Amino acid sequence: MSERWTPDSWRSRPVMQVPEYPDAKALADVEAQLATFPPLVFAGEARNLKKALGRVAAGEAFLLQGGDCAESFAEHGANNIRDFFRVFLQMAVVLTYAGALPVVKVGRIAGQFAKPRSSPTETIDGVALPSYRGDIVNDIAFTEASRIPDPQRQLMAYRQSAATLNLLRAFATGGFANLGSVHQWMLGFLRDSSQSRRYKELADRISDALNFMRACGLNLESHPELRATDFYTSHEALLLGYEQAFTRVDSTTGDWYATSGHMIWIGDRTRQLDHGHVEYFRGIKNPIGLKCGPSLKPDDLLRLIDVLNPDNEPGRLTLIGRFGADKIGDHLPQMIRTVQREGRAVVWSCDPMHGNTITSNSGYKTRPFDRILSEVKSFFNIHTAEGTHAGGVHLEMTGQDVTECVGGARAITHEDLSDRYHTVCDPRLNAEQSIDMAFLIAELLKQERGVQASPLPVAAGL
Ligand code: TRP
Ligand code: MN
Repeated sequence: MSERWTPDSWRSRPVMQVPEYPDAKALADVEAQLATFPPLVFAGEARNLKKALGRVAAGEAFLLQGGDCAESFAEHGANNIRDFFRVFLQMAVVLTYAGALPVVKVGRIAGQFAKPRSSPTETIDGVALPSYRGDIVNDIAFTEASRIPDPQRQLMAYRQSAATLNLLRAFATGGFANLGSVHQWMLGFLRDSSQSRRYKELADRISDALNFMRACGLNLESHPELRATDFYTSHEALLLGYEQAFTRVDSTTGDWYATSGHMIWIGDRTRQLDHGHVEYFRGIKNPIGLKCGPSLKPDDLLRLIDVLNPDNEPGRLTLIGRFGADKIGDHLPQMIRTVQREGRAVVWSCDPMHGNTITSNSGYKTRPFDRILSEVKSFFNIHTAEGTHAGGVHLEMTGQDVTECVGGARAITHEDLSDRYHTVCDPRLNAEQSIDMAFLIAELLKQERGVQASPLPVAAGL
């Protein structure tokens, strides 16, 4: 891997999960057009995120990464983005307050469109068609025409990402994320639940603290850190032609950056050492993620780290384990020991979603809340045992009141799944389950840190 890197050097390697575009010229034309479009993010922002993740690697911060499994063109709208963002802020504030640690906020959003598939075709009632690979590639409708990969969709995905990011930036810095608005982030349909009471008590404490500081003479308006937050975007960089078009030289450093999002990750299915994805990722300077499933051997992980983070830069590489509640104990400890022994600086993050997917007897793909939580708990226990920092979580979640994962405080049953099952891909935690999860993770964080803060607010009647 010592050969010269260029934004297109991945093209001379084998590449997995490539859609079969019928018209190579049409694809090349779109990629050429994308290459002329403005970048979505600025290299300086990616560097700031890398610095923040460096603090996570050092045990001084916690990473919250989450969003849709796959964004869709049909669900693109202001309300969806707002609802996602406020649930995300609620989770972040719960973790910041209860865990007493800064939270690095990274959305799985504004570019999370391309999906790897376990099979190139999908068969329904004896009819086999190309699999749906995300809205950036083809259409989910089960017809022959819909499933043909269409490069024009990449233009649409770019426009949607730009619009989404624009609104998120406005929310993050324009007043919506002000800590003084901590009560207003509660969603209407959550108002009557036990979590919302619990959240309201936490919000009351924050308001009290702000009022106290104001009474002491502090001018809160002059503190931008109370008024705004840093919110970053991320996605799986699966479609390398699209990524290449947004790979740009940062004029201030001369380095190459992926400008399609702040952080991008390599999926568990495309992390082969000598293949195209690893080749592409080694040349860009962004913070990157690597999904680690049960099939990844510790020695192979070390070789990947050699290639992806040769300078051992803290914050550059986040290892996102996705083992499954029943498998994490067989894999993570060995991985941690290997990485520690070799003195590699990484962020350890836990994706408790992808190893815990089951098919419900009602036919829906679902994830039991208890299994998700169980993997997160094991993740924290293992890190405590190994003396390392449980750095973060990677969740599939939405701000909507969907019924996709079973369980949680409101106990969604297998029979409930059909009520509001809206995902175009994997089942997500709904708004309530997400906040629930944040409170539970906050407890684990507090244990890890041995924080002696006053107990978490527990709503009356809980
Ligand atoms: N700027 C701080 C942070 O991002 C505090 C903060 C402001 C905050 N708005 C927030 C924290 C919203 C969580 C959620 O951490
Ligand atoms: Mn998924």
